[in-house]
Amino acid sequence: MKSLSIFHCVSLGLMGVLGLVKELRSATENSASCCAAIEAEYPNQVIYQVDETYEEANARWTQNAQLAPTCIFLPETAHDVSTAVKIFVAQACPFSIKSGGHTPWAGANDIDGGIAIDFSKMNDTAVSDDRSYVRLGPGGTWHNIYKQLNGTGLAFPGGRCPGTGVGGLTLGGGYSWFTGRVGFVADNIINYEIVLANGDIRNVNATDDADLYLALKGGSNNFGVVTHFDLSVFEHRQLIYGGLAIVPINVTDAVLERFSELVSASKDFPESDATLEFFLNGTNAAGQQILLWLSDTDDTNLNGPHEALQPLLDLEPKILDRVGVTTLVDYPHDVPPVTRVLMTTATFVNAPSVVQGVHQLTLDHFEKSFSGIPNLVFDFQYTPIPRHVTEQSLVRGGNIMGLNDTTDDLIIVLLMPLWQDAAYDDDIYALSQDWLRLIHDYTNSVGAGSPFEFVNYAAPFQDPMASYGDSNLEFLRGVSEKYDPGRVFQKLVPGGFKLGI
Ligand SMILES: Cc1cc2nc3c(=O)[nH]c(=O)nc-3n(C[C@H](O)[C@H](O)[C@H](O)COP(=O)(O)OP(=O)(O)OC[C@H]3O[C@@H](n4cnc5c(N)ncnc54)[C@H](O)[C@@H]3O)c2cc1C
Ligand SMILES: *[C@@H]1O[C@H](CO)[C@@H](O)[C@H](O)[C@H]1NC(C)=O
Ligand SMILES: *[C@@H]1O[C@H](CO)[C@@H](O)[C@H](O)[C@H]1NC(C)=O
Ligand SMILES: *[C@@H]1O[C@H](CO)[C@@H](O)[C@H](O)[C@H]1NC(C)=O
Ligand SMILES: *[C@@H]1O[C@H](CO)[C@@H](O)[C@H](O)[C@H]1NC(C)=O
Ligand SMILES: *[C@@H]1O[C@H](CO)[C@@H](O)[C@H](O)[C@H]1NC(C)=O
Ligand SMILES: *[C@@H]1O[C@H](CO)[C@@H](O)[C@H](O)[C@H]1NC(C)=O
Repeated sequence: MKSLSIFHCVSLGLMGVLGLVKELRSATENSASCCAAIEAEYPNQVIYQVDETYEEANARWTQNAQLAPTCIFLPETAHDVSTAVKIFVAQACPFSIKSGGHTPWAGANDIDGGIAIDFSKMNDTAVSDDRSYVRLGPGGTWHNIYKQLNGTGLAFPGGRCPGTGVGGLTLGGGYSWFTGRVGFVADNIINYEIVLANGDIRNVNATDDADLYLALKGGSNNFGVVTHFDLSVFEHRQLIYGGLAIVPINVTDAVLERFSELVSASKDFPESDATLEFFLNGTNAAGQQILLWLSDTDDTNLNGPHEALQPLLDLEPKILDRVGVTTLVDYPHDVPPVTRVLMTTATFVNAPSVVQGVHQLTLDHFEKSFSGIPNLVFDFQYTPIPRHVTEQSLVRGGNIMGLNDTTDDLIIVLLMPLWQDAAYDDDIYALSQDWLRLIHDYTNSVGAGSPFEFVNYAAPFQDPMASYGDSNLEFLRGVSEKYDPGRVFQKLVPGGFKLGI
């Protein structure tokens, strides 16, 4: 759009991808045969392109994530998945794995040619007899799970938006309303049921296959197809204080300052959390708002005081105020329908001046470049990961995301433009890459950089597995070598964030 050099960056990136596509082309020819083989075993669980239900079954949260698999396979049990994986490996058929289907970019959860494994039929939820964990199928979506478990007097960390799935959100770490209390969602998984590349169905936990157990805590789809997650739960009234408040853009300075203070103070208030969402619909002030997603999940203090949140609650005027005592299932969560979305993420060390700096850079970049895209909604968000979150991770055995030695309070910034027309896809990608470079340059220059890239918010041009650091990446590659020596989840499952082997 604005600058030719931008186009060049994108083309170079795409060339790598095209090489991989070529490599897979011969394998793609086998797909019809794999579809037939799996249909022979499970006649009612395979959907072809000619079937009436194909379009709906192949739908994704965003249009731009949708590809065209030769067929879609809907497993009902781990055994179904095992049978399928054995067939795919024997015939070298590429496949994709989809749980909630919320990754917004093409290739992570869908596939051209190939077979799309779709977990929508495996969305079971069951509380263990001793009420210590809930067993979840990967295809469950979080709002439905809150609904299922409403009234049980149990709570657990899960997604904050209704349609996101158990599988992807959890394997990417997972940020919940309870992150300050119990760490990432993945930190609370006590057992994974997984289908390995050779078709074995394993239970993987702290005592059995502990290396693979650790690798799954942030390792995404690199090791197998996870068919069940046992997630720790705790007694909780399921009532929380919080909700959505919207304030005008002219209070930005106060919002950023108070947010930064909340992040610094959060070790004393681990149950209080705020995510800031800036929403810029065009450049006119009327289309510009700040959404404050607030929560205090301490169910013994519903009526307050909510000291850590109070400065944000005090902001005036409010365009909307839906903050109060609510339940996990009733927490406001309307997500408008979207067409095209890209997420890009960076992480930096909290300080009021750095939050201001990142914010100003983002606004300048919007005005200089993004604002030229028609029908653009420029959305970006700040989410805290203070030091006490990583301490909670460690208490639970740790994860592989490379945050364990961090002594700083971190903030994740998520850039999430929404647009309408595919003609602008390349521009958006290039501009988002530019933004990322600007943020890294700036945060590094003031000593506030962090390499961490949150899988769940990362763009296809990012490399979250490498962002975990050399020793963690080495560890992940070793685990892959051990459990998937044929590199099935690196080559035959081309989608998502890979290990670079
Ligand atoms: C509206 C919205 C709200 C969000 N809110 C949050 C939030 O509160 N917290 C947060 O952490 N993230 C959030 N995200 C990001 C979200 O976690 C990611 O988009 C995540 O990928 C969603 O999981 P999914 O199962 O829906 O995704 P999918 O796209 O289905 O899967 C994501 C990746 O995981 C792999 N995968 C999925 N299931 C399996 C499996 N069973 N075995 C092996 N690999 C598998 C897929 O192959 C894919 O690469 C949000 C996203 C959106 C769009
Ligand atoms: C499972 O799927 C059924 C049918 O689509 C749906 O009614 C139910 O709410 C889902 N449950 C979960 C936990 O996602
Ligand atoms: C959740 O359960 C409570 C009672 O425990 C009930 O009042 C409420 O209506 C339920 N909400 C939903 C959405 O089912
Ligand atoms: C760990 O896996 C083994 C089987 O491999 C199983 O017997 C055990 O119950 C599992 N532990 C947990 C906590 O699920
Ligand atoms: C900020 O904008 C709102 C309307 O969006 C207006 O009511 C308020 O007076 C403005 N405040 C200041 C300080 O300009
Ligand atoms: C953005 O603004 C335009 C025009 O002002 C409006 O038609 C559109 O609905 C708005 N979009 C969103 C997502 O608010
Ligand atoms: C953090 O992880 C690294 C790499 O895996 C490891 O070397 C280090 O000992 C861990 N630190 C803590 C405090 O667990």
